[in-house]
Amino acid sequence: MNLLILSLWLVLPDSSCVVCHSDLAGAYRESIHTRAAIGCTTCHGGVAGPLEENLAHRGLRKGSLDRLQVPRLCGGCHSDAEKMRPFGLPLDAFAYYQTSAHGRAWKRGQRDAAVCTDCHGVHEILSVRDPRSPVSRAHLVETCASCHADTARMKAFHLDPHIPQRYRESVHFRAASAGNTHAPVCTDCHGSHGAAPPGVRDVEQVCGRCHTREATAFDESPHKTAYIREGLAPCTSCHGEHDVQPLTLERLQETCTDCHDENDRGGRRAKELWSMFYETLARLRKAETLIQTMQDRGYPVEDLKGTLQDAREAWMVALPLVHTLNTDTLALALGQVRGRADDVQGELHERANRKKEGRVLLLVLWFYVLLTIGVIEARLRAEHPQREQML
Ligand code: HEC
Ligand code: HEC
Ligand code: HEC
Ligand code: HEC
Ligand code: HEC
Ligand code: HEC
Ligand code: HEC
Ligand code: HEC
Ligand code: HEC
Repeated sequence: MNLLILSLWLVLPDSSCVVCHSDLAGAYRESIHTRAAIGCTTCHGGVAGPLEENLAHRGLRKGSLDRLQVPRLCGGCHSDAEKMRPFGLPLDAFAYYQTSAHGRAWKRGQRDAAVCTDCHGVHEILSVRDPRSPVSRAHLVETCASCHADTARMKAFHLDPHIPQRYRESVHFRAASAGNTHAPVCTDCHGSHGAAPPGVRDVEQVCGRCHTREATAFDESPHKTAYIREGLAPCTSCHGEHDVQPLTLERLQETCTDCHDENDRGGRRAKELWSMFYETLARLRKAETLIQTMQDRGYPVEDLKGTLQDAREAWMVALPLVHTLNTDTLALALGQVRGRADDVQGELHERANRKKEGRVLLLVLWFYVLLTIGVIEARLRAEHPQREQML
């Protein structure tokens, strides 16, 4: 007998089962359940100890672990306050699950909807904070995609199987996979056990939880009431749900003309907003280039980099205000950017001029020095005309 299994047998519950079910030995050792003394018999029944199949399998709940039984098996224990208290685990997983699209489908007897084990694993159940867990940030998208990118499975439910792929092309996924823990994965927008699509009315809350400045600006805009009236989704109607990309200035007007005519009030406003942004950005870029050129030519510019940084920060503050659709609000904020950019430009011009003046002064100085030397020389010669002969 394997030494590992022998040692497990001595210290852990039900390890006798693993003698025959040795393919589960690794999972048994790693699972958070084993450490909480939840062994094979807790879920399967049977008798721990005997190494004879018939004896060990006495009372085994044969076939009772059909996937449709899983939510009740796991959820039963996980909503039991007595059992969860020592571990400080929440009791709501099962209750939330039953309200989700997954749980509702399970109740209808749908075998294709997610049950607890589809997301958490069966035997090797790890803490959700363990990076190896299938629901950790590192693996979550694969876990959801295992069904949501499965064309046949999704087709039966009239769901789009391209959602995971679209999400993987988004700015959010790029940031999340680069290690930005503030960027959303599927469950940040859908919840983990309450996995449900946010309805039109909740979208703003979902996105606004992280993008507060944009949400506040949107609330001030005439779109707020218009969108409610028309049943349009606050953020996703312009940004999409899964394939969220950074919007560039070039696409600003296109975004608006999806709904507006170029010449209606919305379309005209789009043009105004665009040119305000464009003009300011041009000045900001000019200040950036100037600093670079002056630095390349050896001028001192370090102190001005702070002002440039202020300009960039003011730009970041101004950007979300596009959502107000208000030109006055935006003019005020962009004024701050232009102010700082103009400061940089003005100061650099002054320095260049000062340097030019300096050069002229130096030239004049040299001229006088040479002139004085010439004059002295001439005088000396006049005073001692026979100097050479005397020597
Ligand atoms: C002596 C070896 C042996 C021991 C000990 C043993 N099993 Fe098994 N077990 C088997 C074999 C062989 C099968 C496959 C038989 C089959 O497919 O019907 C099996 C099948 C199972 C199954 C699948 C049953 C099904 O309906 O598909 C479960 C669950 C199971 N064992 C649980 C346990 C548990 C729990 C223990 C410890 C209390 C245990 N076994 C101890 C040999 C063993
Ligand atoms: C937390 C509950 C739980 C514990 C503890 C547990 N199992 Fe299971 N087991 C399940 C569930 C649920 C399934 C059904 C898996 C599925 O639907 O794919 C299952 C399936 C099985 C099967 C048949 C399918 C397969 O994977 O081959 C065997 C055999 C089995 N378990 C053995 C064991 C043994 C041995 C242990 C102890 C090391 C154990 N289980 C501990 C919940 C548990
Ligand atoms: C669609 C996938 C999915 C399903 C189905 C699912 N879970 Fe979870 N579960 C998660 C995710 C994701 C987390 C991690 C939440 C986090 O990071 O805070 C989690 C966390 C947990 C936790 C840790 C404590 C907590 O609530 O954060 C427990 C316990 C848990 N789930 C039990 C269950 C049980 C029991 C079921 C079945 C009734 C179930 N889960 C079904 C995805 C799922
Ligand atoms: C007999 C009660 C019981 C059953 C049945 C049970 N669990 Fe657990 N589960 C626990 C306990 C107790 C812990 C806490 C272990 C610890 O923290 O050391 C736990 C921990 C977990 C965790 C880790 C939570 C965390 O800290 O991140 C997950 C996930 C989990 N269980 C999912 C499941 C799933 C899925 C099933 C069904 C296959 C299941 N549990 C069945 C009692 C149970
Ligand atoms: C085992 C397969 C499976 C896994 C894994 C799975 N899902 Fe699902 N999911 C489904 C199925 C099937 C439906 C359709 C249920 C229905 O409409 O009745 C669904 C429905 C949904 C819905 C509701 C869609 C709608 O409009 O009805 C959302 C949102 C969702 N899943 C998100 C997730 C997320 C997030 C994850 C990962 C944490 C995940 N799912 C993991 C199979 C799965
Ligand atoms: C940034 C937030 C966000 C992220 C991240 C996100 N979703 Fe969504 N998702 C949404 C919103 C908002 C909707 C609502 C669409 C609606 O109501 O029309 C939605 C809708 C859905 C739907 C239902 C589509 C339908 O046709 O009814 C599914 C399924 C879904 N998402 C799955 C996922 C999966 C799987 C992931 C991860 C790969 C994911 N989502 C990541 C915000 C998000
Ligand atoms: C009417 C269309 C529209 C709606 C509705 C909309 N946005 Fe935007 N959003 C834009 C445009 C256009 C830009 C690009 C501004 C630029 O780059 O000049 C933008 C830029 C952004 C940016 C990146 C720039 C920044 O602010 O830092 C974020 C984040 C953002 N929006 C989030 C949201 C959120 C959250 C909501 C919902 C509260 C929302 N948007 C609603 C059109 C919209
Ligand atoms: C959990 C927090 C979170 C949620 C929820 C969230 N986002 Fe984001 N979002 C981020 C982070 C972080 C970034 C920055 C990624 C980067 O560029 O590094 C980002 C980037 C963006 C950008 C691009 C900004 C840029 O700089 O150009 C847009 C647009 C955006 N999100 C829109 C949305 C929309 C629409 C929703 C709702 C459907 C949403 N976000 C939900 C955190 C979130
Ligand atoms: C998803 C559709 C949609 C998009 C995209 C959209 N709008 Fe609108 N907008 C509306 C609706 C609906 C109204 C209300 C129209 C009404 O009351 O007649 C509105 C109203 C307005 C108004 C107020 C008009 C008035 O008569 O007072 C302005 C200004 C406006 N939008 C500007 C914009 C700008 C700028 C953009 C791009 C950044 C944009 N809209 C993108 C749907 C949209």
